[in-house]
Amino acid sequence: MRVMVVGASGAIGTRLVPQLTSREHEVIGTFRSPAKAERVRALGARPVALNLLDPGAVRRAVLDIRPEAIIHQATALAGQRFSRKLDRTFAETNRLRTEGTDALLAAAREAGTRRFIAQSFAPYRYARQGGMVKTEDDPLDAAPPAGAHETNAAMTHLDQAVTAAGGIALRYGGFYGGADDTVTRAVRKRRFPIIGDGEGVTSWIHLDDAAAATVAALEHPGAGIYNIVDDEPAPAREWLPVLADALAAKPPRHVPVWLVRLLMGEDAVMGATQSRGASNAKAKRELGWTLRYPSWRQGFAAAYSRPQPAEVAV
Ligand SMILES: NC(=O)c1ccc[n+]([C@@H]2O[C@H](COP(=O)([O-])OP(=O)(O)OC[C@H]3O[C@@H](n4cnc5c(N)ncnc54)[C@H](OP(=O)(O)O)[C@@H]3O)[C@@H](O)[C@H]2O)c1
Repeated sequence: MRVMVVGASGAIGTRLVPQLTSREHEVIGTFRSPAKAERVRALGARPVALNLLDPGAVRRAVLDIRPEAIIHQATALAGQRFSRKLDRTFAETNRLRTEGTDALLAAAREAGTRRFIAQSFAPYRYARQGGMVKTEDDPLDAAPPAGAHETNAAMTHLDQAVTAAGGIALRYGGFYGGADDTVTRAVRKRRFPIIGDGEGVTSWIHLDDAAAATVAALEHPGAGIYNIVDDEPAPAREWLPVLADALAAKPPRHVPVWLVRLLMGEDAVMGATQSRGASNAKAKRELGWTLRYPSWRQGFAAAYSRPQPAEVAV
């Protein structure tokens, strides 16, 4: 299939392009920063510069490429600092998920593109009531934290627009396995504490498994929403010490809820103490997806632990 990967130079795009080419797909990969063209080419894709927030440019690119499938993986999160107000951190990403998605869908319709897949997100989105692990049919949080209204609304827009057009929205878990990211940096510096009892649940996904699920979705007919997460949604008190250990960092500190509320606001408390995880049963069942790292327990160690001397190749 001729596949246009929008955001081919990003954390997931760089894992996805080689998996697509290894399955004989022809890949056109877009990037925004000029320095990324060679990186995209080296991965095996034809590089095309594209600003997804320019609808005219999107239309021209899609009509020129005439892809059989479009995979939207564009976000604008590199170099962002997570502030008290998530909507500030995600402002441009939210536009990529709303205006960017709409521009791509309109161009896809005009070009006769049959398949459309887009990046969505599972953690911190499901209603913070009832069971701690949610399926795609469970309701989303009707009253998200004050600073995350626009961010949640943008993801909901993407989910609805993509599935209404016959495409697939992939609600990925928290990505891990990249060389460096906001979470690993904070854990290394011991700035990612366990808040209160650390009972808020997160679903993780290794970037390679996220890419494999995306290839499976591309090759799966039909529309839908899928949680792309690992088998073990877990509270922070369980996964955070394991991540710190894999990173050879000191164990996480414990911080009382009242102090976090005072210093970082209610949003941080809600996320850390009430968030729900997600179930991957539907993606496994319908997409035939298998995970290389079914749990963060093996995945964190594989991604971050330095090889022991006996394991170093000679
Ligand atoms: N589910 C998750 O947990 C999740 C999801 C997304 C990101 N993240 C994390 O966020 C961090 C940054 O992500 P990232 O490395 O993928 O970088 P990013 O800055 O989010 O960029 C992602 C992709 O979108 C492209 N892009 C950005 N703005 C664009 C625009 N206006 N038009 C078209 N394309 C645009 C980027 O191009 P350029 O490379 O040329 O800028 C890149 O290809 C990573 O640590 C990643 O793991 C996590």
